[in-house]
Amino acid sequence: MKYENLKVPNHVAIIVDGNGRWATERGLSRSMGHKAGAENLEKLVCYVLSKGIKYISLYVFSTDNFKRSKEEVDYLMNLFVNKFKRSVKKYNKKNIKVLFSGREKPLKEEVIKTIKKMEEDTKNNNGGVVNFCLNYGGHSEIIDACIKIKKDPSINIETLDEKTFNKYLYQDLPQVDLMIRTGGERRVSNFLLWQISYAELYFTKTYFPDFNEDEFDKAIVEYSSRDRRFGGINYEKKNN
Ligand code: FPP
Repeated sequence: MKYENLKVPNHVAIIVDGNGRWATERGLSRSMGHKAGAENLEKLVCYVLSKGIKYISLYVFSTDNFKRSKEEVDYLMNLFVNKFKRSVKKYNKKNIKVLFSGREKPLKEEVIKTIKKMEEDTKNNNGGVVNFCLNYGGHSEIIDACIKIKKDPSINIETLDEKTFNKYLYQDLPQVDLMIRTGGERRVSNFLLWQISYAELYFTKTYFPDFNEDEFDKAIVEYSSRDRRFGGINYEKKNN
């Protein structure tokens, strides 16, 4: 779909949900749902960043996801490593920069190594940014930023402002304009809490493996119809 007459967000965040139910409904193992989700994710990232959207953040593993079975966690970690290793070439071809947000502990060495290499290999790209949130928690991110600030001798705490605080987060990215959650739940689940202060929220029942380009376009059409006031009043509209 052409986005010409639509308002296009600068930063979109997606809570990737529904892989497990997608698989269960097809009589498949939950792992097969994650595999299908991963395949969809790569296509979607390239599509989104080809539409004039500059940043996409994806919640692929929360700090709380470690509560899942060892089998599922191990499967996901191997999937991340294998997919990341294989997709570097594609992201470089598309000029996409890859970033990660999250805590290193207790990720395995191989996961951390793969993540760091992918960031390094794509660092000079400037055709859009994909921010993978892995072992990510919104509260942890804010706490980790405070710890970094406390350790930084160059900072004057009395004059700390929002722009400076943002620099101590896992990544210094612009505020999220549109947050999408697939899979039918209507909550933000500790995702990008600092960054979503004025984000428009879009919930869809579609499970993530089925959240394709057409489904994404629907979210953009909905976003484009929203009246964003950022706490102010849209006088022009009110008086006409
Ligand atoms: C939540 O849905 C999804 C996850 C915890 C994992 C998401 C991971 C991927 C899509 C793979 C990403 C791959 C790469 C390479 C980044 P769920 O499984 O909890 O679904 P459910 O709510 O239906 O059980």
